[in-house]
Amino acid sequence: MSADVISLETVKIERDEGTTFIILNRPDKRNAMSPQLHMDMCEALDWAEEDEQTRVVVITGAGGNFCAGQDLKLYFRGNEDDPRKMARARRASHAWRWDKLSRFRKATIAMVPGYCFGGGFTPVIACDFAIAADDATFGLSEVNWGIIPGGLVAWAVTQAMSYRDAIYYSVTGDRFSGKEAAAMKFVNKSVPSDQLRDAVMELARKLEAKSPAAVRYTKEALRSVRHMTQEQALDYLDAKNDALKFMDPEKGREKAMKQFLDDKVFKPGLGEFKR
Ligand code: COA
Repeated sequence: MSADVISLETVKIERDEGTTFIILNRPDKRNAMSPQLHMDMCEALDWAEEDEQTRVVVITGAGGNFCAGQDLKLYFRGNEDDPRKMARARRASHAWRWDKLSRFRKATIAMVPGYCFGGGFTPVIACDFAIAADDATFGLSEVNWGIIPGGLVAWAVTQAMSYRDAIYYSVTGDRFSGKEAAAMKFVNKSVPSDQLRDAVMELARKLEAKSPAAVRYTKEALRSVRHMTQEQALDYLDAKNDALKFMDPEKGREKAMKQFLDDKVFKPGLGEFKR
């Protein structure tokens, strides 16, 4: 049984069958991230991870923009005199933008319209996939107001961009478009803004149809092997495959082999098995 969506102050949740949109919802502030928004995003992701109907999560922003970065007034200035409040906001900010999102057990897509600045880069990078509008505007604007891309942004951009691009955009603060983001492989692709949702849903439906266990284990495997030696990776991947074989509640591997080898009703090279 799937629960109804939860209601939050600064984050909106919408369903489209097996895909759940988690929407930063402060459009008047270009979805700048306040401490409350960080707390709400933590709650939204925890809810979506447990929600049975949700197979794919799309992170996006309301009102035609993705996110204008940290809220300078509420996140920075508002917490200046209260180290405990600052620490709490920081923990929540890091928890959803990196820890929860990069380890999320279901497929995640960042859908980027309009502006995406500073701290807004981290969730784009933490998602498995990112699709932007051609005319989206990305900017590592921290340098423009005298700070560094902190809160893990500098680290995250070096994971997702070439080192040259990471340095260039971090130090100059120059903006780049969705089209340029796609050319440098910072996002998977960009499309005209009026086709953004359709392009995201096309990918989401494809992911919805896959075995949830295979999606989860594949994501976890890729994330982990990046930092291993070849020997460690070989051991780990063998163990991970065994774990999937025994833990998959759908027993997908057996079903798929039967459909291919015995029933001859499915070709793994051309699509997923019948679940
Ligand atoms: N923090 C706090 N408030 C922000 C904000 C941010 N990061 N980004 C936008 N806002 C607020 C503005 O203060 C304004 O509030 P107001 O209506 O109460 O005056 C509202 O959002 C709309 O912003 P505005 O600048 O009028 O919109 P715009 O469409 O002309 O420009 C931006 C949008 C995103 C280009 C511009 O707001 C901007 O440069 N924001 C800062 C982006 C940034 O450097 N982020 C990195 C932070 S780590």
